[in-house]
Amino acid sequence: MRVLVTGGAGYIGSHTVVQLVAAGHDVVVVDSFANSKPTVVPRLEALIGGPLEVHAFDLTDRDKTESLFAERQFDAVIHFAGLKAVGESVEVPLEYYQNNLDSTFALVRAMQRHGCFRLVFSSSATVYGDNAPVPYQEDYEPLSAASPYGRSKVMIEQVLRDVASAGGQWRIAVLRYFNPVGAHPSGTIGEDPQGTPNNLMPFIAQVAVGAREELYVFGDDYPTPDGTAQRDYIHVEDLAAGHVAALHRIAHQEPGLRAWNLGTGHGTSVLEMIRAFEHASGRTVPYTVVGRRAGDLAAYWADATRAHEELGWSATRTVDDMCADTWRWQSSNPEGYPD
Ligand code: NAD
Ligand code: UD1
Repeated sequence: MRVLVTGGAGYIGSHTVVQLVAAGHDVVVVDSFANSKPTVVPRLEALIGGPLEVHAFDLTDRDKTESLFAERQFDAVIHFAGLKAVGESVEVPLEYYQNNLDSTFALVRAMQRHGCFRLVFSSSATVYGDNAPVPYQEDYEPLSAASPYGRSKVMIEQVLRDVASAGGQWRIAVLRYFNPVGAHPSGTIGEDPQGTPNNLMPFIAQVAVGAREELYVFGDDYPTPDGTAQRDYIHVEDLAAGHVAALHRIAHQEPGLRAWNLGTGHGTSVLEMIRAFEHASGRTVPYTVVGRRAGDLAAYWADATRAHEELGWSATRTVDDMCADTWRWQSSNPEGYPD
């Protein structure tokens, strides 16, 4: 298939591009580089062994999005593009709603106009809100989220569901990611957060490499075995494989929309993650326990049964693999991608 990957220069998109090409797909990328750097492109080209077609524009520009579809024929779209920092979304909610919703509207309109009806959308476990029973199952309702970022995902899921229900040929896969971590085993592409990392794994990696002094552990009084919060960390290479599987599935499924969790089905605590990273890196990760972070839940993980049964996909990489690959990326690129 010829696949348009929006946000293909970003963390998850870049890893997925490599696996799509390896699976025989013809890949075209659109990215505004709002949260990524063009220097990822030559590294992707080295990994895929050839040139990569990249269009640098903002999908909220409806004319440019429309022009791309007028010029090129796509069999499917994987839509990663979006802003994703939870804390920032609380400070500048309009920017988040506008970017994430408008880009989706422009994209889906252009797809509809040009007869491309297969879409894979990046959603998040955050749409299960605060009250869903653990493990999270796809049929849980009502979806809700604690931040403007999360609510933009809930809204987009709803819009896509309505579009699919209106009839026609839409085949839409909504993939709800748990906590993506890790990097390509080559160490040449990985997660490159701008400024202070918000998420646990990149913060641990920056402490281990010496770029930051210590990690703050947000709370050790949760009702969990060691008191720190548990999450379902999933290797980005497993996540990328989940997209290849979802693309294959929607090429054959009946029209409509279906959601799949992409997680391992297991929780790992903050302290367990620190220990695993120390083991993988051979470095000490100094930390101090501080108060809980507002909005954090104690523990959750995926019920990953549906993806296994319907996509033929399961996560195979361990927490040790996630730490080893993150460390290879971080230690060989301590400052991330060059400018
Ligand atoms: P990322 O920021 O690394 O990648 C997103 C890419 O989209 C960036 O390269 C950015 O420049 C681009 N982009 C943003 N807005 C755009 C626009 N309007 N037009 C064109 N390009 C635009 O993020 P990621 O971690 O790779 O996440 C990919 C998707 O997965 C996002 O939708 C995110 O919300 C979702 N997601 C991520 C996580 C996670 O922890 N990383 C978890 C759940 C869901
Ligand atoms: C966060 C987002 C979630 C998003 C996900 C993407 C919040 C409240 N939630 O989830 O919407 O989909 O990222 O991966 O921001 N921790 C520390 N010290 C740190 C950083 C994190 O102790 O410096 C702890 C957190 O309290 C949490 C765990 O590590 O218990 C994981 O945190 P993080 O990586 O930020 O992910 P989530 O909070 O699960």
